[in-house]
Amino acid sequence: MTSPAATHLDVHGREPDGVWSAPGRVNLIGEHTDYNGGLALPIALPHRTVAAASARSDEVLRLHSVQAGETVEVSLSDVGPGVPEGWTAYVAGVLWALREDGFAVRGMDVTVDSEVPLGAGLSSSAALECAVGAAASDLFGLDLLDGDVARARLAAACVRAENEVAGAATGGMDQSASLLCREGSALLLDCRSGGTEHVPFDLAAHGLVLLVTDTRAAHALNDGQYEERRRACERAADELGVGTLREVPVGGLGSALDRLSGDELRRRTRHVVTEIARVEEAVAALRAGDLEEVGRLFAASHASLRDDYEVSCEELDVSVDAALSAGALGARMTGGGFGGSSIALVPEGSVAAAEESVRAAFAERGWTAPRCFAVTAGPPAA
Ligand code: ADP
Ligand code: GAL
Repeated sequence: MTSPAATHLDVHGREPDGVWSAPGRVNLIGEHTDYNGGLALPIALPHRTVAAASARSDEVLRLHSVQAGETVEVSLSDVGPGVPEGWTAYVAGVLWALREDGFAVRGMDVTVDSEVPLGAGLSSSAALECAVGAAASDLFGLDLLDGDVARARLAAACVRAENEVAGAATGGMDQSASLLCREGSALLLDCRSGGTEHVPFDLAAHGLVLLVTDTRAAHALNDGQYEERRRACERAADELGVGTLREVPVGGLGSALDRLSGDELRRRTRHVVTEIARVEEAVAALRAGDLEEVGRLFAASHASLRDDYEVSCEELDVSVDAALSAGALGARMTGGGFGGSSIALVPEGSVAAAEESVRAAFAERGWTAPRCFAVTAGPPAA
């Protein structure tokens, strides 16, 4: 990455007032639970999106992205639901949402560059929103990076940007991960209470590596499938007379399933309720240092997402199976699914074999070569 400050000077003709950055994430377990008031367990990636920015005294947003390869001007007063379209929605949307929350936000010149692969299920969009949110917080004196309560408020504004301006009906896990995770820990996120706990996550101490495979299979969260899952969960909760599926205890799952009207709702509900239980079990196993058990929970989570929630795809399944056959303790898709990335818990000595196994499985099928890389739990937006 060339220096974002140098690119900023080049593009906007002035030095930035500062440089901010925010990480992408991988979710260890707890998938499609956030919008059900459930539990999730993401870590922040070492990969970050960087935003160099300078404040303006007018209402203009002048936005440049190295990845988009363009500079776009938007007037803040034109921003709203569905406007603008494309990548600038994530940036302009955050400033719009902060304004809606009553914060005095004006125009900005922004230069964005990113190490987070775009559209790989690793939350490049949340990293973009949170990097810009961090910049706005400091440039306009909003104090939204000062402590977890303030950071959760900024995360909520970033979620609003994604839901209302970019039009993707995602839950809040990605933005919370980007703003609230801590280096060396996973973030246990309770999406009902908003509560968080930091769970030490140091695989090296166990001779293990978290290997991410970006399958490079396209995914799009605003193509209807994601939203369809969300609506199915709402219908199931309605039929059960609860606010969200979080209210269904895993011990009461059998009787809840009996009361649902069809097979689809039963399978969606079974995934959500068992997945929330798996997060609790994974946290207990991590705290007890039982990584074999974490691996088993990864595998169970993947099977549930594939068979009951139906959000996996061939590339994800093949990457998971290939990692397992090369000695991974567990593997699963991460993020929304329908493409994107998988993660595997791999003994240090088997990392090369796991990567090779995944590559070979993709090559055999004539698919685009996947990207495999090891990650550790990185720091939050700053
Ligand atoms: P993910 O968040 O998993 O990477 P999404 O489809 O939710 O996938 O978000 C990807 C979109 O976010 C991109 O298509 C683009 O519009 C926007 N985006 C993310 N990072 C950047 C960036 N550095 N520059 C421009 N747009 C970006
Ligand atoms: C996407 C979405 C998150 C979460 C996840 C599935 O990443 O943005 O809010 O629902 O899918 O767990």
